[in-house]
Amino acid sequence: MQYWWMEAVGYQIYIKSFKDGNNDGIGDLKGITQKLDYLHLLGVNLIWITPFYDSPMDDNGYDVRNYFEVARQYGTLDDFKVLLKKAKSLGMKVILDFVLNHTSDEHPWFIESRKSVDNPYRDYYIWQPPKVIDGKNYPPTNWGSFFGGSAWKYDALTNQYYMKIFSDKMPDLNWKNSKVIESMIEVGKWWLDLGIDGFRLDAVSHLARDQFIDSTFSNDIVLDWFKFSNLPDNHKYLNQLHEGLFKPYNAFTIGEVGGEASIEEAIKYASFNSNEVSMVFNFDHNWHNNIHDITDLKDLKVDVLGLKNTINTWQETFKDIGWLPLNWLNHDQPRVVSHYGHVDYHGPSAKMLATIMYLSRGTPFIYQGEEIGMTNFPFKSLDQIDDISTINGVKNQIDKHPKDREKIIQKALMTTRDHPRTMMQWDDSEYAGFSSVKPWFHVNPNYQSINVAQQISDPNSIWSYYQKLISLRRFSAYSKTILYGTYQMILKDDPNLFVYLRKLNNETLLIIGSFSDQKQSFDTSLYPIDHIIIHNYENTQIDANIIHLRPYEALCYKVKERI
Ligand code: GLC
Ligand code: CA
Repeated sequence: MQYWWMEAVGYQIYIKSFKDGNNDGIGDLKGITQKLDYLHLLGVNLIWITPFYDSPMDDNGYDVRNYFEVARQYGTLDDFKVLLKKAKSLGMKVILDFVLNHTSDEHPWFIESRKSVDNPYRDYYIWQPPKVIDGKNYPPTNWGSFFGGSAWKYDALTNQYYMKIFSDKMPDLNWKNSKVIESMIEVGKWWLDLGIDGFRLDAVSHLARDQFIDSTFSNDIVLDWFKFSNLPDNHKYLNQLHEGLFKPYNAFTIGEVGGEASIEEAIKYASFNSNEVSMVFNFDHNWHNNIHDITDLKDLKVDVLGLKNTINTWQETFKDIGWLPLNWLNHDQPRVVSHYGHVDYHGPSAKMLATIMYLSRGTPFIYQGEEIGMTNFPFKSLDQIDDISTINGVKNQIDKHPKDREKIIQKALMTTRDHPRTMMQWDDSEYAGFSSVKPWFHVNPNYQSINVAQQISDPNSIWSYYQKLISLRRFSAYSKTILYGTYQMILKDDPNLFVYLRKLNNETLLIIGSFSDQKQSFDTSLYPIDHIIIHNYENTQIDANIIHLRPYEALCYKVKERI
């Protein structure tokens, strides 16, 4: 089984923070078009652009008001057509973010829906009467939302609640209503007819809802996502989208199924035999450190064994039956070099992380700025935060546990989705070359030492290393093995080294990455070195059969064939 997207190298663009093309402080479509040559030079040939549809921007565009219009702040439909044309001329595929679970509360469907219980659009959304206990009104169930608080919002006009598993301004669509599916197929066709290549499907494990019965986990409001994740009907809806939309257009689709979908569910969504989506993004490998218990950033420790186990389990499970995306983060997660790397070994650790991820079996999705090792932002207080989920979540937790206020804030500042959303660092000019005016959000103070301009001209930079890794995948003598070889993790119990083999026919590649800031060693006796293919240090310290690895050292070598 081979598809074009298996050989692609993807790149995620968070439009608002990528490049400002008209100097109003907000990233836009023109800015992306200006940077397509840059992405081409890096070796990327598939881009995923986060939502740029018309929206009141409660959640930076994931709250769509009109699926057929471009948000004015991002440009015009003509700007998008220019972008698409240029991308195609560079051999680059383009996928868009398709928000299916909810719309904005300002979408005309919802404006109609809330007017009366018999409005023709009423059933486009999920409405329920209040639960009445002792004459008092409560939400229909005690289910919590992802962004904090109840998953229901009261609407006085009809004395009912609508469901919203994200923010109040993002009412959930009712997928039981076949008109919703038909309407969304129409939206999808409209964009595919323009010439795009597919979609990243936002929050797509949540389309089906359980019966509206309280969660028994707690008497209080509780985020029991089983009530609205991966239910059997969710597969049915995706299958209908597949038959009615994805298949006829031969569209590539990658479903965001998040941390809620188990590996068994992921197989149902995205094995080669499932008629749902091409691949899924899961987040199992995203939080393998002590981030959720600590209060001091200096103590951040990576759970290397846990991380290895997770990555290996997904690789093993999907080896013959499907294909995986390879990614460290997206616009909702912290910067990987800040989480799994080391500040004192910024360059080596960023390169090590890239090595072990992007030589695996799957399709890379690099997140903007990752290719130069952009870091988390040194947030100090809540008033520096823009993200609606952080703001609502913190408020909600503090209401519940006022005594833990400081701890709650500190943890939120470390995990906030705003870390990956600071401006892309293009050069060392004011505002990092993102814009000529003050941007809508922060520029990381380290932009003068970490930026594209400086790294492109340095053959030893993180950027140059990414370019080399990508070219190994796409254009080298080892491409076939990197793309289609088997994946076998070795030294599974080693708490510092991440090591695996890729094999195809007679060729074996060995990939080693050290997660340690101390010296480590690796015995090559079983896997003698033929030659080194890529390496994040200049020379190799080798003594008899032992490679002495320096902090965060990573290398890939070809193993000598046995004769
Ligand atoms: C997805 C997006 C996230 C958004 C949410 C609701 O998880 O990645 O940014 O807030 O869906 O649309
Ligand atoms: Ca702009």
